[in-house]
Amino acid sequence: MPSILLAADHGGFTLKEALKEHLTQQGFEIIDMGCHSTDAVDYPAVTQSALLRLHAEGIESGAIKGILCCGSGVGVCIAANRFVFARAVWANDVSTALWSRRHNDTNILCMGGRVTAAPRAAEIVDAWLAEPFDGDRHQPRVDELSAVGQTVRC
Ligand code: RB5
Repeated sequence: MPSILLAADHGGFTLKEALKEHLTQQGFEIIDMGCHSTDAVDYPAVTQSALLRLHAEGIESGAIKGILCCGSGVGVCIAANRFVFARAVWANDVSTALWSRRHNDTNILCMGGRVTAAPRAAEIVDAWLAEPFDGDRHQPRVDELSAVGQTVRC
């Protein structure tokens, strides 16, 4: 059972709090990187702190996964995928979350507090956390993602 790091800006704060309660009830160890109120904070900075912590806590070994929330879920997803070890997916439905695990081995789930209601977000999270990576022919493709991130600088 991986630990879960949660982080949000002000637009995702309420959803993050709901998911924190949901996951705590299921026995997950939670690291809450904030924010801790609806006071405005910038999603790039929030995401950068979260990703550095995820790296320190061993995201690459699967020891921890990240769930990031902002108003739309888009800003945190863009910011997260700037990090070479991140495979972040934006999801507003269970199907996208499942396919992202099976084929892309996603390790960060991004959702929007202004887009996805808490009950649906909880369903998406549960599905995402439970679904394994298919591996096999998908492994070299995922490996190629890291290669792209390390070689393209323009
Ligand atoms: C903040 O108002 C909002 O722009 C942010 O939460 C996010 O939706 C950006 O992608």
